[in-house]
Amino acid sequence: MEIKKAQWRPSTLLYPLPVVMVSCQLGQEKPNIITVAWTGTICTNPPMLSISVRPERYSYPIIRDSGEFVVNVPATKLARAVDFCGVQSGRQIDKFEATGLTPGPAQQVSAPIILECPINIECRLDQIIPLGSHDLFLANVVAIQVTESLINTEGRLDLLKSGLVTYVHGHYHEIGKYLGHFGFSIRKRKKKRPPRRG
Ligand SMILES: Cc1cc2nc3c(=O)[nH]c(=O)nc-3n(C[C@H](O)[C@H](O)[C@H](O)COP(=O)(O)O)c2cc1C
Repeated sequence: MEIKKAQWRPSTLLYPLPVVMVSCQLGQEKPNIITVAWTGTICTNPPMLSISVRPERYSYPIIRDSGEFVVNVPATKLARAVDFCGVQSGRQIDKFEATGLTPGPAQQVSAPIILECPINIECRLDQIIPLGSHDLFLANVVAIQVTESLINTEGRLDLLKSGLVTYVHGHYHEIGKYLGHFGFSIRKRKKKRPPRRG
């Protein structure tokens, strides 16, 4: 079968992506939340992640000068707040107050976590790499908090219980259908039993 391809100019078309709410705070000033989709895990050991932030964002100097931030992974029910924090600036409003989200204590950084988010990843800035429109913040993960009610009786984190959001080309979606586990492609399939007769 022939698969025809359309040729598009170079752009940011890597989807699906996670979309996260990054909380930050400088000294005693009010904490802020910025929605970020240009984010990713970049190293396992030491655990590191990245966020790309435009220098004109209100959050930019907060993260740069405090050297700390929290990546909060939102649950599906927070989709409206995710979008809101991505279209409103902390220059004009207090986003915790406006969304009703609750700032909670972080373990290792001074920025607050967002309590309603199932995963809170506390980060300390390692380096900033200017790229163009965005600067890349590389950070070490220094602590993690997860919502206890999502940990099952075997101690495993059941993330899908809270509903997870993915960002696809300008749209938010809930992650759904299960396809397989890590390595399932090379695991031997169990032979199907022949149907019982009689
Ligand atoms: C889904 C979504 C993803 C976004 N991703 C990024 C991003 O990766 N980097 C960035 O600098 N801005 C991103 N933005 C834009 C900022 O979140 C937005 O400009 C926000 O109002 C900045 O808040 P602040 O001025 O309080 O820092 C995104 C917005 C949305 C809605």
